[in-house]
Amino acid sequence: MNILILGSGGREHTFAWKLAQSNKLSKLFVAPGNAGTEKIAINIPIGVNDFDAIKKLVLEENIELVFVGPEDPLVNGIHDFFLNDQELKTIAVIGPEKLAATLEGSKEFAKEFMMRHHIPTAQYKSFTSETVEDGFKFLEELNPPFVLKADGLAAGKGVVILNDLNEAKIELKSMLVDEKFGAASATVVIEEFLDGIELSVFVLTDGDSYKVLPTAKDYKRIGEGDTGLNTGGMGAISPVPFADKAFMDKIEQRIVKPTVEGLKKDNMPYKGFIFIGLIKVGEDPKVIEYNVRMGDPETEVVLPRIQNDMVELLKAVANQTLSNIDLKLDDRTATTVMTVSGGYPGSYEKGKEIKGIESIKDSLIFHAGTTLKDGKVVTNGGRVMAITSFGTDFKSALAQSYINVEKLSFEGMNYRKDLGFDL
Ligand SMILES: Nc1ncnc2c1ncn2[C@@H]1O[C@H](COP(=O)(O)OP(=O)(O)O)[C@@H](O)[C@H]1O
Ligand SMILES: [Mg+2]
Repeated sequence: MNILILGSGGREHTFAWKLAQSNKLSKLFVAPGNAGTEKIAINIPIGVNDFDAIKKLVLEENIELVFVGPEDPLVNGIHDFFLNDQELKTIAVIGPEKLAATLEGSKEFAKEFMMRHHIPTAQYKSFTSETVEDGFKFLEELNPPFVLKADGLAAGKGVVILNDLNEAKIELKSMLVDEKFGAASATVVIEEFLDGIELSVFVLTDGDSYKVLPTAKDYKRIGEGDTGLNTGGMGAISPVPFADKAFMDKIEQRIVKPTVEGLKKDNMPYKGFIFIGLIKVGEDPKVIEYNVRMGDPETEVVLPRIQNDMVELLKAVANQTLSNIDLKLDDRTATTVMTVSGGYPGSYEKGKEIKGIESIKDSLIFHAGTTLKDGKVVTNGGRVMAITSFGTDFKSALAQSYINVEKLSFEGMNYRKDLGFDL
């Protein structure tokens, strides 16, 4: 079968690497891809939101399955675009339809979904510019810290947590009235602050049955000890050591099952991956957010631990036969360390030659922001390259990743040396 992956990051390289291991794969395309996918697939220089160009490619190359990496095209309705097109409607798309993708596209929509299906999450109220005064009153009723969330997609920057009531009011006004995040903050969700340790659980569903995939923990801040600005993710560990059987059972019964059942009850067709961001409060899991796709860099540790044939898994999702499949997981721990450009997540330069790739041994290399220039691999983004390793525990896996990260070099290269510090 011919498959197309949409996206260009470490997540997409990891999916390409996993799909390429299947003898059920014929041709693999990635749009637009990076220097890593170029080696194992055919890169096509079209954007993930260029639906017409994607249609043309799919028809010309007899593509039978499209895996959608990032959230943007899902929230923009790529799955519906395929279903509503006479020539495309039989082609499998992995990723939810537009309505279900709103679970990521609107925090208020996600909150209402969780309330309706009794899924544990922080108490909240939402406000618009017309109700900003009510928002101030609500803040006065809460205890600090105050959690303010722009409703729409804001590239990971739309959540602000403040300790001071007055600052929270100023922030609320700036989001609602001064449109700090544009249309994304026309509605703001104010939430009760939850105190605990975070983890993510990944679920694969065909809309009917589901598989709980490995857990992971990612590190979002640029600085050691989880300080400094937020990034797309500086590394990840799977499984999460504190997510034992009892805790996982709670997650499955209280969160995963009602989520998949809720999607069915609400008539929201969903074929794809669900990323559930969780926080462990005492001994209980609560949902922070849903994402409607795999995480990056979590994919770089979750996929290597799945032993099933990925073409078979994705086909089963498309055909709604996922319940026939036995998920097989590698018990070892996987860790990934992300190397990033100097200055990231602020401004940074691109086009720096990456040296030492060929000297990496006993780890997996997943390209994120890279491209080929005159036959050389050069940087092409903030997050550049992830090094994934296995170990009997997260410490030994991380030690292996760091040995190999130290062999890599490019001008300005940075990475976090303290992953797992909180475990
Ligand atoms: N109710 C909450 N209590 C405590 N921390 C929160 C809460 N909601 C969000 N956070 C923190 O803010 C981060 C970002 O929030 P999230 O809802 O995941 O938004 P996004 O990923 O879209 O920016 C979370 O990973 C978590 O660290
Ligand atoms: Mg998040």
